[in-house]
Amino acid sequence: MGYIGLKRKKMQEALITIKDIGRKYVIGSEVIHALKSVSLEIKKGEFVALMGPSGSGKSTLMNILGCLDTPSKGDYILNGINVSQMTDNDLAEVRNKEIGFVFQTFNLLPRSTSLDNVALPLIYAGAGKKERDERATKALENVGLGNRITHKPNELSGGQRQRVAVARALINNPSIILADEPTGNLDTKTSIEIMGLIEEIHSKGNTIILVTHEEDIAQHAHRIVRMRDGLIEKDYPNDNIKTVSQSQVNLKKKEDDIENIH
Ligand SMILES: Nc1ncnc2c1ncn2[C@@H]1O[C@H](COP(=O)(O)OP(=O)(O)OP(=O)(O)O)[C@@H](O)[C@H]1O
Ligand SMILES: [Mg+2]
Repeated sequence: MGYIGLKRKKMQEALITIKDIGRKYVIGSEVIHALKSVSLEIKKGEFVALMGPSGSGKSTLMNILGCLDTPSKGDYILNGINVSQMTDNDLAEVRNKEIGFVFQTFNLLPRSTSLDNVALPLIYAGAGKKERDERATKALENVGLGNRITHKPNELSGGQRQRVAVARALINNPSIILADEPTGNLDTKTSIEIMGLIEEIHSKGNTIILVTHEEDIAQHAHRIVRMRDGLIEKDYPNDNIKTVSQSQVNLKKKEDDIENIH
């Protein structure tokens, strides 16, 4: 790399820097070190897949990155600001404006329609009713639920509920998307659709951190971080990036093969 390249690289500031982060849980006399010592730097516009066995600390790390939880030790610097020094108000503002969460356990309001669930973050953002409804309708159409806007969560399938959660996470155009197994309960076709949405958001310059157990899904990311026992085991660029259009072709082939067998 030449001088200009080096200079540019240096100027590319990290969006997320965590240094020697630890998170322990104390239950009675037992201490669980969910995160032992994790250091990580993520630049703006990266697309990272976070992988690792169950219990390795992925969700714990995501909760810290999303400012939903604080570490027991270590530093978290988000956009040049040390998160531990932010006030609760500042943190809430960062969460509302900058971060979109797509968590598997993300609860939708049970008595509200898809439209109202998706529009909710816009209320906090101060948008008027007409704008909220228009944007939420568009967001639901984008995830293929234009015909389910007046349905309540218990009138939707699991995959459809997940898509409502995705639409809600994206409604504010957050610059960081934290997705904890967003395709966990979905069939292959719907998973590909959700990954298509995530790729689209990434292509607009947003930063994506995605937890997944599925190698297939992780291949969509540009960088793969593997965790084990509260530590980062491996962190490497994905040199075989898969895109949704490819996945759709592969799925179509699979379906054709199945049809040919019958
Ligand atoms: N609130 C809590 N209290 C006590 N222990 C917890 C708590 N949350 C998580 N843990 C423990 O911390 C460890 C890491 O949990 P975490 O949820 O981060 O794992 P994970 O990698 O997301 O696993 P999975 O793939 O199953 O979702 C586990 O051993 C878990 O039992
Ligand atoms: Mg988890």
